[in-house]
Amino acid sequence: MNNGSFSILLFFLSLALLSCRQEEANPMEETHYELDVPAGFPYPDIPEDNELTAARVALGKRLFYDPILSEDSTISCASCHKQALAFADDVPISPGVKGRLGFRNAPTMANVAYVERFNKDGGVVKLDLQPVVPIEDHNEMNLPLQDAVARLKDHPDYPEAFLKAYGKEASPFTLTRALASFMRTLISGSSRYDLYAGGKTSAVSEAERRGLTLFTGRAGCANCHAGFNFTDDNFRNNGLYEIYEDPGRNRITLRPEDEGKFRVPTLRNIALTAPYMHDGSLPTLESVIEHYNGGGTAHPNKDTLIRPLQLSEEEKASLAAFLRTLTDSTFINNPLFGKE
Ligand code: HEC
Ligand code: HEC
Repeated sequence: MNNGSFSILLFFLSLALLSCRQEEANPMEETHYELDVPAGFPYPDIPEDNELTAARVALGKRLFYDPILSEDSTISCASCHKQALAFADDVPISPGVKGRLGFRNAPTMANVAYVERFNKDGGVVKLDLQPVVPIEDHNEMNLPLQDAVARLKDHPDYPEAFLKAYGKEASPFTLTRALASFMRTLISGSSRYDLYAGGKTSAVSEAERRGLTLFTGRAGCANCHAGFNFTDDNFRNNGLYEIYEDPGRNRITLRPEDEGKFRVPTLRNIALTAPYMHDGSLPTLESVIEHYNGGGTAHPNKDTLIRPLQLSEEEKASLAAFLRTLTDSTFINNPLFGKE
């Protein structure tokens, strides 16, 4: 072999080696995951550094249901965010590791892809960062993020799943992004109310329709619980207390005018997510309606929209009946969202 052909051979050999290596180092699967967005819903914003792919959603789902992310491997995200309850819980305060209690009621994950500021006080501004809070919180999973990452790196098959999803190993970045990807798929918009809104008049009863008329009309609920997701994404004081133990939005802004203000929550699947309010203090929809009907307690920040409503017993019952039409049984039974 002369020098020329030898170097050509070397060239092809190294090319072959290089391409093998590349395949090994980057087995990332980039199959785009298209969200199933109901009529009347916008397509949610997806961050550029975390495009949705099937592998990311699958990894996030597995992590969401895996107690490996808690100190003693007893608590997963799904311990407090249960699919049958629209990814909320049925107790005022859900226990974390060692039965420890935090101070707020676990919210639904339905349509969390549309939320702009997370937690009831809006203290977290990106869904991609939110999972750090429960994983590290002393009262929730109590595991330093670096320890969670170390466990995932040591695991028999998580490393491959991370490579497939991100072309990178487990890290605080990929762990939180994967969880966010799964949560973005949790879209709920197939309730009886949606059928009705889509033109199927028979999907709701007379009483439920009267409840909807009150909701958007005289009872004023839709001023705050507005739009396709029944929230105006604002922070408001709905007159629950005269003195707030949990200052709400004020915890973040420290402004006196934000005391007792909480993010207006979605009302989708509301019949499944009792007890209600930031602290889970109202046990039933009936007690919520009594609260609003009474006009709330005196607080300097109470919203001017909260005032005595003078609803009759029949009107209260219709309002509650309307709220129950927001239950989406497809959502809570969807195997794509459930534990395998
Ligand atoms: C011990 C119960 C518990 C566990 C475990 C838990 N959460 Fe939560 N979650 C809550 C509570 C309570 C809140 C409300 C916190 C607040 O408003 O300050 C919340 C809020 C959230 C929010 C914000 C939703 C919104 O509408 O603002 C997201 C997203 C979330 N959790 C995701 C997760 C993920 C992902 C995990 C697992 C890594 C997890 N949670 C584990 C109880 C829990
Ligand atoms: C001024 C704005 C405003 C108006 C008007 C309003 N709400 Fe609310 N609503 C809120 C806020 C803010 C919260 C959250 C309070 C908290 O977390 O303590 C809330 C919470 C709720 C909850 C509990 C949600 C949960 O997940 O815990 C229900 C149910 C509810 N409202 C129904 C109604 C109904 C029915 C009406 C009309 C009678 C109404 N709201 C009127 C702002 C409003």
